[in-house]
Amino acid sequence: MDKPKLVSGFSKLSKRGKIRWLVENFFSNPEEVARELKSFWYGDPQKQKIFDEFSENTITNFYLPYGIMPNVVINEKAYCVPMVIEESSVVAAASSAAKYWQERGGFKAEILSTKKIGQVHFDWKGDAIKLHQVFLALKERIFEETSHITCNMRKRGGGVLDIQLLDMSHLEENYFQLQFTFETCDSMGANFINSVLEESARILKIFLSEQPHFTEQERDVTIIMAILSNYTPECLVRASVECPVEALGTFDEGRMSAETFAEKFVKALRIAYVDKYRATTHNKGIFNGIDAVVLATGNDFRAIEACGHTYASRDGQYRSLSYAEVKDGIFRFWLDIPLALGTVGGLTTLHPLARRSLEMLGNPSATELMQIIATVGLAQNFAAVKSLVTTGIQKGHMKMHLMNILNHLEATEKEVKEALVYFADKIVSFTAVREFLNLQRAPQTQAAWVAKK
Ligand code: MEV
Repeated sequence: MDKPKLVSGFSKLSKRGKIRWLVENFFSNPEEVARELKSFWYGDPQKQKIFDEFSENTITNFYLPYGIMPNVVINEKAYCVPMVIEESSVVAAASSAAKYWQERGGFKAEILSTKKIGQVHFDWKGDAIKLHQVFLALKERIFEETSHITCNMRKRGGGVLDIQLLDMSHLEENYFQLQFTFETCDSMGANFINSVLEESARILKIFLSEQPHFTEQERDVTIIMAILSNYTPECLVRASVECPVEALGTFDEGRMSAETFAEKFVKALRIAYVDKYRATTHNKGIFNGIDAVVLATGNDFRAIEACGHTYASRDGQYRSLSYAEVKDGIFRFWLDIPLALGTVGGLTTLHPLARRSLEMLGNPSATELMQIIATVGLAQNFAAVKSLVTTGIQKGHMKMHLMNILNHLEATEKEVKEALVYFADKIVSFTAVREFLNLQRAPQTQAAWVAKK
């Protein structure tokens, strides 16, 4: 058996030291790998330092494409939206949907609510009625004794909105919860919420220990944990489009009428509502757009995804996040999604490109950003379902896939042009493209190849 490649004190090594240890232990060509890792460092050491300090054990940067989606008209305001995503076709598809709806009145977006949730989970043994009797006093004390943490947020119009005591002992023995609702204005609020919760847990422990009418056991409490919930169903935004069915135009080069398109589109949405296998892929398409802007603006895409998927299963079955209908000759398509976002604090201000992204969007408030991001999700979903119910997605995908392969194989401009013509009606695969290029590059074998085909 190989000697285990373990290390102690790794975090204390310099960046170069970390790379050295890594390449010498895990790669057969250490010098080459070390050079490659370093080649992705920024030229400007100050800029690199910012990235090194975001996280731990950073040895280099991992690049993703940063693209833009122009022509996004939301509530009659035009945006150019930044998107960070590696998947080909996503930006192109969203951009074409944006242009399509820009010509039909644009997107509408509205905030339905902005509340966030945090919880103190605790284990308590005693008479629950007694706990409920003292709860109002506890609540007042928490408001008062957390005011040093909440005062700035309150000045900005936010803070703790409410606290509820939940008896959860029917689900888990002795389990109770303080459930907080918060307004965190333009910040995502995780730090603020967690600070309030941890302080509240401390207050709860002291408060209970001081209750004269409680038994000794009731004066004791075990705080299990205090943490925000990433499920924020009341931090909700709706993005929508609508137009008369006939204004949808024709599809698939005139082969599909507006009526047939609308009918198939609505049916596809119904399928995503009733079938969880389709719903998952349908929602993945929505998150292709949402995650790309969440990343570009330095927000937490894991939180956004986790929340979105819980919301999609809020009635017990995982369902689509978007809906469509035709009513009185009007085609309507909309998306309801919880998005807990920030435009101040965290990476939004530290990451130089996240800052530029927000500037590109006109330095929006968190609620405006919610509307922009939900709209991109809707546009992405429209583009995907439109392709699916008309030509299928492979047509568009394959062109991008072909371009990626051609780039990888360092095709010249002339070879790219010829490949696009050749593969217009053929299946694209890495092998087929390499074979095509080899033949272009070795003309003497062309005759044999043409004869074989
Ligand atoms: C691919 O990344 C996303 C789609 O599969 C979404 C969908 O099927 O709706 C095209």
